[in-house]
Amino acid sequence: MPLRMTANYEISTDPSRFDLDLIHDFLRSSYWARNIPRATVEKGIRNSLCFGAFADSQQVGFARAITDRATFAYLSDVFIVPSHRGRGAGKALIQAILDHPELQGLRRWLLSTRDAHGLYAQFGFQPLAEPDKYMTIHKPNVYPGSH
Ligand SMILES: CC(C)(COP(=O)(O)OP(=O)(O)OC[C@H]1O[C@@H](n2cnc3c(N)ncnc32)[C@H](O)[C@@H]1OP(=O)(O)O)[C@@H](O)C(=O)NCCC(=O)NCCS
Repeated sequence: MPLRMTANYEISTDPSRFDLDLIHDFLRSSYWARNIPRATVEKGIRNSLCFGAFADSQQVGFARAITDRATFAYLSDVFIVPSHRGRGAGKALIQAILDHPELQGLRRWLLSTRDAHGLYAQFGFQPLAEPDKYMTIHKPNVYPGSH
């Protein structure tokens, strides 16, 4: 059963439907995960709650929640392929994630984005109220060749 259907898009968490070539090709070219190895993508997918967006059974989008499914989730690796952008697939994907039964009652959601704040704001995400409380270890060049 699909998690969510719109007129044009189906959202599913069934990993057997994921197009790993498409996901890896997109992520290794993205600004946030440049050169990520395929094995790293696959391991991340195995250990996350992942969502695919499909049009006519073809995968056109992806996102994952890195989560304990009890208190916290980090929304990561959200994308829609360029040819399907601007038609509601991204919003259907985010809505399906936030509606997922395993992701209810969490104390906190977190994400990082360069320019899509306006997308996430529609679902209640807000800038960090107290950014000085947060700390990070960030290694943007952790993947081979990502300099
Ligand atoms: C961001 C992205 C997932 C949105 O998917 P989409 O299918 O094009 O989005 P939708 O058509 O469902 O609608 C997006 C809504 O967010 C808004 N928005 C705000 N910032 C945006 C941005 N940077 N990119 C796209 N939409 C943005 C749009 O205006 C639209 O709002 P509206 O319906 O009220 O007009 C997609 O554009 C994408 O893959 N971008 C490249 C990868 C990326 O930047 N991912 C986010 C990393 S955090």
